[in-house]
Amino acid sequence: MHRICPIVRAMKVLVTGGAGYIGSVTAAMLLDAGHETFIFDNFERGHRAAVDGRARVIRGDLRDQASIEGAMRKVRPAAVIHFAAYALVGESMEFPGLYFNNNVKGGINLAGAMLKYGVKRIIFSSTCATYGQPEKVPIREQTPQRPTNPYGESKLMLEKILAWHAQIDGFRPVFLRYFNACGAAGKFGEDHTPETHLIPNIMLAALGRAPALKIFGDDYETPDGSCIRDYIHIEDLAAAHILALTSGKTGAFNLGTGSGCSVLEVLAAARKITGRKIRARMLPRRPGDPARLIADSSLARAALGWRPKRSSIEDIISSAWQWHKAHPGGYGG
Ligand code: UFG
Repeated sequence: MHRICPIVRAMKVLVTGGAGYIGSVTAAMLLDAGHETFIFDNFERGHRAAVDGRARVIRGDLRDQASIEGAMRKVRPAAVIHFAAYALVGESMEFPGLYFNNNVKGGINLAGAMLKYGVKRIIFSSTCATYGQPEKVPIREQTPQRPTNPYGESKLMLEKILAWHAQIDGFRPVFLRYFNACGAAGKFGEDHTPETHLIPNIMLAALGRAPALKIFGDDYETPDGSCIRDYIHIEDLAAAHILALTSGKTGAFNLGTGSGCSVLEVLAAARKITGRKIRARMLPRRPGDPARLIADSSLARAALGWRPKRSSIEDIISSAWQWHKAHPGGYGG
């Protein structure tokens, strides 16, 4: 794990979604750094086994105003790190209401509870999906935000709501716009149901738990015809949250490496690292997939002192492979 310098002053932090993929790693890193860490999670999509034993856990649902107000009253944190959300683009195109209800209404309830108990600091998990199909890459924070799916829209809506609370109520928000979160960190790994992401799907094919990887399109305007993404290791993402928390900065920051890998390059790296054949099948394009998404993260580097350390494709794949071999059935098995 990233070594975070010992802190000058321990903070009390409420982590919503602290049993999820990125929240669990961030909670562990907060605890390593000496912060008093409370996890607020409904365990609908998060995993009990992903909760660090040192964390205090409050089971609750952001859609229930009384539940988050009760947690805020009990903890009275110095800051909130807000992960809890639905995060599947395809699902959001099928059931948009789920996304607006959980991600936006849940966020409004959270902001209301913060206001009620005088909590002003929030680090919010946002996404490059708020940019939609950008005209230019790399993507900067000033790139117009025009989401192409309800998931991205729900995250953008909450960014805007928190920005108004900043202007009117003195909130001090940070929006961390992640590119493609991936990899595993020791006992923490990626386990979604259904699994739609590239790297865990490659791992499932490598383990023989899926017959073949489906490759969605080889006719994009990219050198090998498959889509290019900016893959960023969850430990690097978690480290950015701690830096944002302690920096006192506000504003939006892109989190990516600044370089991309195509689907075919990721598959080739996985074949090499796992030593497995990994069968693959070419399919037509998946609706809504942009050809290239690459971050310009120079602002996070300059303002937060953030440097990705674990996001080479080799490190990403080998960490994911270790985790999937140890947990072939995910957290459940
Ligand atoms: N892909 C495949 N086969 C698969 C899964 C994915 O070929 O089984 C391809 C996709 O078509 C895409 C690339 O691999 O070209 C990456 O797909 P992911 O589903 O892993 O990631 P996305 O880029 O679609 O989405 C991710 C997160 C979103 C976030 C988005 C921002 O899942 O939450 O990045 O780009 F909003």
